[in-house]
Amino acid sequence: MQIIRDIATLRRHVKQARESGKTVGFVPTMGYLHPGHLSLLHKAREKNDLIILSIFVNPLQFGAGEDYEEYPRDLEADAAQAKEAGCDLIFAPTVKEMYPQGYATFVDVERLTDSLCGASRPGHFRGVTTVVTKLFNIVTPDRAYFGQKDAQQALVLRKMARDLNMDLQVLIMPTIREKDGLAMSSRNTYLSPEERTQATVLSRSLFQAEEKIKNGERDTNKITEFITQTIQSEPLANIDYVAIVDTDEIKPTETINGQTLIALAVRFGKTRLIDNIIVEVS
Ligand code: PAJ
Repeated sequence: MQIIRDIATLRRHVKQARESGKTVGFVPTMGYLHPGHLSLLHKAREKNDLIILSIFVNPLQFGAGEDYEEYPRDLEADAAQAKEAGCDLIFAPTVKEMYPQGYATFVDVERLTDSLCGASRPGHFRGVTTVVTKLFNIVTPDRAYFGQKDAQQALVLRKMARDLNMDLQVLIMPTIREKDGLAMSSRNTYLSPEERTQATVLSRSLFQAEEKIKNGERDTNKITEFITQTIQSEPLANIDYVAIVDTDEIKPTETINGQTLIALAVRFGKTRLIDNIIVEVS
């Protein structure tokens, strides 16, 4: 498994693979790999001949005062795990390679990025859609794999690929969790032991809400109130948002109907965690 730093070399590898009729599966990440990322590689391995993982902490998607500098990085450990998971190539460009001096082009998905994380992190999704477009243009995958853990991101990217006629499939894979339910995230390493214990309230509140919906509750205000109160019972939790929206336009719904996303973002000290579930009600 090779680690490639520059765009030209990566393109040469892809061209060669294509010439011998191989399909390309792509998993974009910011590194510091955990089983959530690896599940995407495993999934990609099932269907594609050449598996490419990108590792790039994208400065464009971090706001001022966010954790771009502190974001954990460990390329050596990532490479060992990626190889084990069946990855063929790691593309780990420098910031200069991706955004050379004078860089001026950005991709924006409207509406779907206005709420939830888009509202709390202005410019974040513009950074994500821009870097993923660039990565798609460089890697030219047949299939790209994303996690439901970042539900809004996945929906925005699926929309972008459709709207811009990108010639690839965007696949969204289930959230991988710790044994106690906490969604795996590179940012979990920031949590103090006390915060880590209390953070299990996120998935607990979502699963309990799901149970209420299964038992017939359809009022989104009541579900939102229940989740909010459950989370607030943990003293270190500071809610950023709790939202119940449809999965097409990411707009608030009054009653739970069809495919519905229940998403939340909560701060524990300086760490902002997100989690979500999708419920299907007919
Ligand atoms: P990153 O946070 O490194 O995540 C890379 C991919 O792994 C994303 O598709 C994310 O949804 C998925 N992922 C993270 N935790 C997961 C979990 N617990 N279960 C399943 N999948 C999980 O998301 C990004 O990087 C960036 O925004 C990126 C798309 C690479 C653009 O810079």
